[in-house]
Amino acid sequence: MKPKFISMALAAAAGIGLATPAVADTKVGLLLPYSGTYAALGNDITDGFNLALELSGRTGEFEIVREDTEVKPPVGLAKARKLVLEDEVDVIVGIVSSGVLGAVRDFVDGAQVPLIVANAGNDNATGDACSAYITRVSFSNAQVNRPMGTWMAEQGIKKVYTLAPDYAAGRQMIEAFTETYTAAGGEIVGGEYTPFGQTSDFGPYLANAKASGAEAIFVFYAGGEAISFVKQYGSFGKELPLYGSGFLTSSLYVNAQGEAAVGVTTSLHYVPTLDTPENNAFVEAFGAAYEGRTPSEYAVHGYDAAMTLMAAVDSGASDRETIAATLPQVKYVGPRGPLEIDPATNNVVQNVYIYETVMDGGALTQKVVGTVEAVRDDPKGCALQ
Ligand code: PHB
Repeated sequence: MKPKFISMALAAAAGIGLATPAVADTKVGLLLPYSGTYAALGNDITDGFNLALELSGRTGEFEIVREDTEVKPPVGLAKARKLVLEDEVDVIVGIVSSGVLGAVRDFVDGAQVPLIVANAGNDNATGDACSAYITRVSFSNAQVNRPMGTWMAEQGIKKVYTLAPDYAAGRQMIEAFTETYTAAGGEIVGGEYTPFGQTSDFGPYLANAKASGAEAIFVFYAGGEAISFVKQYGSFGKELPLYGSGFLTSSLYVNAQGEAAVGVTTSLHYVPTLDTPENNAFVEAFGAAYEGRTPSEYAVHGYDAAMTLMAAVDSGASDRETIAATLPQVKYVGPRGPLEIDPATNNVVQNVYIYETVMDGGALTQKVVGTVEAVRDDPKGCALQ
């Protein structure tokens, strides 16, 4: 039990505004990559998380301990253990890699510590390995990619070659895409999984794609690998149209890809060009806080993780058990659109947007060309309800 009410009373007695209580009530472990191929993603999630606390005037209520997973499953597990056993956090927020989430799942479930997943899409964590202690506010690998398989087949694209890094997320994303694409009549004519975090030359893979007779390529890459892949795709002359899951051309690093990204069409649950009051306010606040930067989907995951945690605390949650039980009750309209947690899986239910990266007035931006509303995962053996 945390001294939430005591600290608020103390703050009031000391004449301190409730926005800056003297004692933090909730201890949060931010478990993210701050080094390695996904370091930029971890930093953006952190920025989004902090922004939500700051805009609410509640930074003083939350004590934050950061740990770097280095995108390595054993390191992620060791850091999760340290956060829980040494730092005694009330809740863990984070995890970018599906591999790290797979490694941490049994530990958080056994230790009964709530985990708010703020990126990693590992389908199992809200499928057959779901847990009452794991709530995901980001996306699942299947959720983002299934709509794209159907959409590409509907566009009349008949033969596709696939590429992704060789680890859980790459495999699950390609499998989800393949399932709906082939069900809608498309054919996968070939594909490869590239060594994760170790592939710097994508030339041979692009050559194999071209030789396969495919009409288009569908890929998942993110972070540093997405930058290298798209740049090399551009320097090979964009021989085939490029599609993928929308992390490929994330607003976090699309400027580093430059002109090579123009025309790439992908699917994702957030793009910063969504013209809604909630998103316009978020984009403005993020830019004002962080030197004019445009928020990415990663920043939104961090922001929504903090919003979800604050909502849980506001409805009375104060320790690991009550936080875990209350997190899935969140439901609101945020920057990405309507967001709610499916009580059957604890995975987020949300829109998936199909967007093209375009050049507009000399700047790279995202043009939404399709929306699939309220995408909900199949429980796949999860028995939370
Ligand atoms: C994942 O490993 O689940 C993952 C990593 C980076 C992304 C998306 C998914 O951008």
